[in-house]
Amino acid sequence: MIQKIVCCTTPPVVTPTTVPPQRPTSLPVRSIPGGYGWPVVGPLADRLSYFWFHGPTTHFKKRIEEHKSTVFRTNMPPTFPFFTGVNSNVIAVLDCKSFAHMFDMELVEKKNILIGDFMPSTSFTGDIRVCAYLDTSEPQHTQVKKFAMEILKRSSKIWVPTVTSNLDTMWNTIESDIAKSGSVSPLIQLQKFIFNFLSLCLIGADPSKSPEVAEKGYMWLDAWLALQVLPTVNIGILQPLEEILLHSFAYPSFLVSGGYNKLAEFIEKEGQEVLELAENEFGLSKKEALHNLIFILGFNAFGGFSVFLPSIFNTLGNDKTGLQQKLRNEVKEKIGTNSLSFDSVKQLDLVNSFVYETLRLNPPVPLQYARARKDFTLSSHDSAFEIKKGELLCGFQPQVMRDEKVFDEPEKFVADRFTKEKGSELLNYLFWSNGPQTGSPTESNKQCAAKDYVTLTTSIIVAHMFQRYESLTIDSSGSISAVEKAK
Ligand code: HEM
Repeated sequence: MIQKIVCCTTPPVVTPTTVPPQRPTSLPVRSIPGGYGWPVVGPLADRLSYFWFHGPTTHFKKRIEEHKSTVFRTNMPPTFPFFTGVNSNVIAVLDCKSFAHMFDMELVEKKNILIGDFMPSTSFTGDIRVCAYLDTSEPQHTQVKKFAMEILKRSSKIWVPTVTSNLDTMWNTIESDIAKSGSVSPLIQLQKFIFNFLSLCLIGADPSKSPEVAEKGYMWLDAWLALQVLPTVNIGILQPLEEILLHSFAYPSFLVSGGYNKLAEFIEKEGQEVLELAENEFGLSKKEALHNLIFILGFNAFGGFSVFLPSIFNTLGNDKTGLQQKLRNEVKEKIGTNSLSFDSVKQLDLVNSFVYETLRLNPPVPLQYARARKDFTLSSHDSAFEIKKGELLCGFQPQVMRDEKVFDEPEKFVADRFTKEKGSELLNYLFWSNGPQTGSPTESNKQCAAKDYVTLTTSIIVAHMFQRYESLTIDSSGSISAVEKAK
């Protein structure tokens, strides 16, 4: 049955936050297993295990087995030799129950620890500590978070048509690339699409007004992002080169300041209205407004989607269960050829569940950190642990989202896992946004401001794909070699 489209401008609905409750526990209190080893040697050994000898996933799995606990002490990179001011000691929290303590802002604080105890220089962000590095106790956090949520709300009128028209441009280019070269990776076209629609929606700035920004804007952001996070991310290139060249020191911001400054100029010119909104309604200085806006656009939004959307293509490429056909049937049946809207895609149970399940198995921001605001007792499924004020908690989402006490067959991709009553219940444990999927971002927490925009936009991208195509031939790396147009 073709459903009626209700309205294309209704923004995603805000629901109350439901963090799994942190109650006094009757579980046995256990001292936290693991340790930090000898100075220099312990952190270095953990870093090599994490980046080189095992890789992040096996590194954490092996430690869970060794300590018979999902909560333990360990070190997280970056470490020796040029990160002397960085304390690598963390308490890993690797099941849903212990991880959820990181959402309770009475227990933890989030000052300067977006990517761990190591914080990239503020020279990457105009000498401003931007929103993601601010704790909820800092007044600027409230100002910028409210501003971020306001620009999302304001843009909801143009969001869906902007996404779909930029998707049409993207698919037209991908089709002509396939005609020329056979198989193509969609990565560059995806990044151009992401940059364009976000720039238009969040800032009201049209990249086509500046040929240089239109051509290179997404690359400037890639380079700027990479330099900030390099010391902490696993690339998987030839070792020991990665350790020596990428993980041993922080790169200076001047290497990418050329592109950053051009982007800043473009936003100052084309995004005037949004900048004025930040100053007049949210009390931010011009400098705070500009650099926060670039960070929200470039790091939070462009960075997040650039990591996440390729996993949608990889997942479709790896599928052997006829998933494309099931998704297409649902889109055809519930929306047909009608234009898409936030409300219409909300009815696509399988499409939405497919998006959630992709986020569960491929959380785009794999590591989350939080520092104990006070002494408290933290519970895993089977034990309780005393955490001291100032200790740093570190959660590795790819492990947490495979918690067998919460998810049946946790390693398996189950596209309809999040459908029906049981599926809705499981949304309490889907944490990609630094909070449960049933929660709401507010100025009092650190949950992604765009939690619902991300999932609904991705559902729109999937629905648009199956309105446009009967099927796509995608390999396991996400490359597309053929498309069959919708009949
Ligand atoms: C797939 C895309 C995205 C992903 C995976 C993502 C993920 C996240 C995560 C994990 C955090 C919490 C980081 C932490 O404190 O540990 C976060 C915070 C944030 N995100 Fe997103 N995000 C995405 C898109 C967006 C978009 C489109 C916006 C646009 C407004 C946005 C705005 C923010 C802001 C402002 C914060 C900081 C929240 C705070 O400090 O309270 N994100 N995001």
